[in-house]
Amino acid sequence: MALVTMRQLLDEAAGGEYGVGAFNVNNLEQVQAIMDAARETESPVIIQASRGARKYANDRFLYHLMEAATEVYPEISVALHQDHGNSPETCRSAIELGFTSVMMDGSLMDDGKTPSDFEYNVRVTREVVEMAHEAGVTVEGELGTLGGIEDDVGSGEVNLTDPDQAVEFVERTGVDALAVAIGTSHGAYKFTKEPDREVLAMHIIEEINQRLPTTHLVMHGSSSVPKELVDIINEYGGKIDPTWGVPVREIQEGIKHGVRKVNVDTDLRLAATGAIRKAFAEDPSEFDPRYYLKPARAAMQEVVEARMVAFGQAGHAKDYDPIPLADMAIRYREQGHSLTVS
Ligand code: G3H
Ligand code: 13P
Ligand code: ZN
Repeated sequence: MALVTMRQLLDEAAGGEYGVGAFNVNNLEQVQAIMDAARETESPVIIQASRGARKYANDRFLYHLMEAATEVYPEISVALHQDHGNSPETCRSAIELGFTSVMMDGSLMDDGKTPSDFEYNVRVTREVVEMAHEAGVTVEGELGTLGGIEDDVGSGEVNLTDPDQAVEFVERTGVDALAVAIGTSHGAYKFTKEPDREVLAMHIIEEINQRLPTTHLVMHGSSSVPKELVDIINEYGGKIDPTWGVPVREIQEGIKHGVRKVNVDTDLRLAATGAIRKAFAEDPSEFDPRYYLKPARAAMQEVVEARMVAFGQAGHAKDYDPIPLADMAIRYREQGHSLTVS
């Protein structure tokens, strides 16, 4: 079993100055694609499930899919993470389910849409940190809000992270990782043209990293929305309007300035959809789901491998032995929330 806490995984990434992709899963093919990519590139990896994913797949199915991943790929260090937990209750249930990391997204109220205020965010995040660290589980918080609306995550309002507030937030909550808002949004429609440094506020990352050099920063909405994937969808009957994502080179800039976790979901969705559309078009008489899910899985694996290489996590799978949750709990108790693991 190579189940690892996200804290250890990110501390190792900080030591090695690389980033780690956190890829969203809802089903078997996504889990397999990510794990095959991790095996191929020898990468540690974060697999994350949103509330929507837990509802879609059912908690027990999802957990056992992830557990199967740790059995089938024992050489890969994998952290299981709750993406965008909307309340302490959601985080508690994820911890009970066996996740090794949770995100308390207190930047929004528990409807996952309405922007919250700073004091609310500090209060709920601190509550989750107390609960999670007692169990050795890692906590990611978020300050500032992303743009765009995707299912149950996002207000549609952009509110960039204030570096002064970030310092106070980390001090008062004790989070292990901090998601910052720099102008990205979830989903395929992030930018109407290639984003420059005005639109994508990379300077915020640099400033926060200078003020909080030991806090692991997280970039949400980090799909690059590659044109070639959009083109395949459109070529085979889809309709994705012209759009831009976050260029990989900007993510690499972020990684130079303390970004350790990079959230990617949309790029896998695009890859799978294009492959399925193509398979349907190429042989309309086929009706065996394996006929179209196999190329979908392969297309997702290809994207994930490319990101793992670009983020620098490739080759680091076997660098360390996972510290058990119980030992992590002792470390938090003895060293406080801002311990160093690696
Ligand atoms: O946070 C956004 C992720 O892409 C998950 O999206 O809520 O549709 O599962 P979802
Ligand atoms: P994308 O929609 O850019 O893939 O972002 C995913 C994400 O941030 C999940 O939390
Ligand atoms: Zn997100």
